[in-house]
Amino acid sequence: MSLPIQMRNIADRALVKDLERKLEEVEVLISESIANTDQLLDETSNHLVNAGGKRIRPVLTLLCSHLGDSENKDVLKAAAVIELTHLGTLYHDDVMDEADLRRGVPTAHAVWGNSVAILTGDVLFARASQVVSGLGERALRMQAEVFERLVLGQLHETVGHQEQDEMDFYVQVLKNKTGSLIALSAQLGSMLSGATDDYLEPLGEYGEAVGVAFQLMDDVIDINSDDDDSGKTPGTDLRAGVPTLPVILLRKKIDVKSIELVELISSGLDSDEDLAEAVNSLRRHEVMEETVLEAVAWAEKAKKALSPLPDGSVKKALEAFADAVVERKG
Ligand code: IPE
Ligand code: IPE
Ligand code: MG
Ligand code: MG
Repeated sequence: MSLPIQMRNIADRALVKDLERKLEEVEVLISESIANTDQLLDETSNHLVNAGGKRIRPVLTLLCSHLGDSENKDVLKAAAVIELTHLGTLYHDDVMDEADLRRGVPTAHAVWGNSVAILTGDVLFARASQVVSGLGERALRMQAEVFERLVLGQLHETVGHQEQDEMDFYVQVLKNKTGSLIALSAQLGSMLSGATDDYLEPLGEYGEAVGVAFQLMDDVIDINSDDDDSGKTPGTDLRAGVPTLPVILLRKKIDVKSIELVELISSGLDSDEDLAEAVNSLRRHEVMEETVLEAVAWAEKAKKALSPLPDGSVKKALEAFADAVVERKG
């Protein structure tokens, strides 16, 4: 299986070959982990797995296992756990965001309804827990803590900020809902390969920062891409009222055009014409470039966090990944 586009600029070809081969094995583990639940759940949980997806998180796990003994089979299981956890969040997130398209296919709730989509997410979390229970108490606790942070991130995004500065609040949301799982992907790869615990903190810091950059670019893609690139419908977050960074920055502007655009977005964007107008106006607005610059700053922060790691192919690949994240289009 070829690596996600964000990982294709890894210079070490032997490393790339190894990651591709192991990713195939992880795919088999994922398929086995979601088999034999119930006839309907088997179909619904395979729906998104078969639709594609980039697999950046399991590849990060595999990559970081090269800091120790990368042949340890627990690493493959950890990579599967990470993707299963991610998948569960996608089923739930699409219900919350009322999204109609994911990975280029209709979302589960659009096909089977909200209850089945939510229960599919639940069964994926259950299967992730079953697999991680075989990786020792420490991995189990780390995964459970991240699972809680994912929930808190989604919850805080939903209820919105109170007294805290909106930007600080939003970054905290991104660290929780996206950064925490990306950090865990890197940490489990290193830990289960038997590498020194000294790498866990830098990898956690790296993963969280790169996750913020990744999610900020996702906010940009929600507005900038067409659905062929992203496999999602443009403007989904905008219509769902998710306060992404472009919108937060827009609300701080005081010129007439920006104020009118904020009013249009706040109107709910129920008609397709209103949504298209809002998306088109935002695409041309300076807040898009400002959001990209913020993502670039987080990618730089991520790379700096890697300084305690030994120089070599893994560090170079992690740096290249941070750079590629802020260039992504889908
Ligand atoms: C989507 O993650 C959810 C976010 C955190 C932005 P990905 O962009 O990694 O989605 P897939 O796995 O490739 O579909
Ligand atoms: C994805 O968040 C879900 C989690 C990170 C838990 P978003 O709603 O921001 O991402 P997309 O655009 O639907 O993938
Ligand atoms: Mg969403
Ligand atoms: Mg969401």
